[in-house]
Amino acid sequence: MHIASVGISKLCFCLSLALSGLLLLLLPCLRTPARPLVLPQPKAQFRSASSWTYRTPSQTAAEPPLRRKDSGASSTAHHRHEPLEMEDVFIAVKTTRKYHKSRLELLIQTWVSQAKRQTYIFTDGEDRDLQLKTGINLINTNCSAAHTRQALCCKMSVEYDKFIESQKKWFCHVDDDNYLLLPSLLLLLSSYHHSQDVYLGRPSLDHPIEASERVKSNGLTSVQFWFATGGAGFCISRGLALKMSPWASLGNFISTAEKIRLPDDCTIGYIIEALLEVKLSHTPLFHSHLENLRKLLPETVLDQVTLSYGGFENRRNVVSVAGRFSLIEDPTRFKTVHCLLYPDTDCVQNPDWCPKP
Ligand SMILES: *[C@@H]1O[C@H](CO)[C@@H](O)[C@H](O)[C@H]1NC(C)=O
Repeated sequence: MHIASVGISKLCFCLSLALSGLLLLLLPCLRTPARPLVLPQPKAQFRSASSWTYRTPSQTAAEPPLRRKDSGASSTAHHRHEPLEMEDVFIAVKTTRKYHKSRLELLIQTWVSQAKRQTYIFTDGEDRDLQLKTGINLINTNCSAAHTRQALCCKMSVEYDKFIESQKKWFCHVDDDNYLLLPSLLLLLSSYHHSQDVYLGRPSLDHPIEASERVKSNGLTSVQFWFATGGAGFCISRGLALKMSPWASLGNFISTAEKIRLPDDCTIGYIIEALLEVKLSHTPLFHSHLENLRKLLPETVLDQVTLSYGGFENRRNVVSVAGRFSLIEDPTRFKTVHCLLYPDTDCVQNPDWCPKP
């Protein structure tokens, strides 16, 4: 009897031990699942922001930085992030004299107007009228206006030097057919630190490019590397840009590009991936006119970092956003995107074209 009751209490003890063990094991599963990675809407960000400061949610709460589920950016070293202001970013827009009217003016009316001091237009001819009328930073690179590898590399070389001179934390390059969504750009960059080695962009190919190595080994070996397509825009941290200096500064960029005989954006990828062995962080948030832009889901358009539009031969290749502008009034959809991002400010700045709600 006595022995049996001891047996039973032992059994109970063991059972309760096993049960609590099981409970402990189950605890992580029973906890509510981690919050889905949903980003605050950039437009809401902007509407409520009185200045251009953006702080990642992780800087106010002790949580890992929130990342877009689909950002695709490599997850390495996201632990260092910093509050970032528009002032910290050097934005280079590459254009050519003949597109000042047809392409550049649209950018100046839209996103450039929100970052005028940080944006530098790199072109190949003077345009004092435009400069006086709009107050933009227009830099005549004195490079050839031809759309050749040499001329494009010449402009990139000047962009690089001006960025280094600027002391800003981030270098971002876009083309004159890109809409740059500034709130999304700040959100993306603020999840990194400018002293890290960061190269952000979208490859135009689904495989790395192969080139014969002529800088280190006289073309005897070949190298494989990814590069961010210039037509979708890309960003480089100051830390990394400084390391590129031996191959990129003061005309060295042109001789590096000549050695490997590749265009400007490939040369950037070559210097970063092949020579410095830093990986491109692939992100699908950048878009060039080479993609099918209609495939972007309308509800995600304002979360992207850059947009573009198809050229004359492909004029219907534009993002699908509905707004108060028809396709005829706004064939590129840039005005529509701009009015959605900045519903208040721009009717004052651009009364000619921003329709009243
Ligand atoms: C282009 O040439 C002009 C006139 O010689 C000069 O003032 C300017 O600094 C040059 N631009 C660059 C980026 O070197």
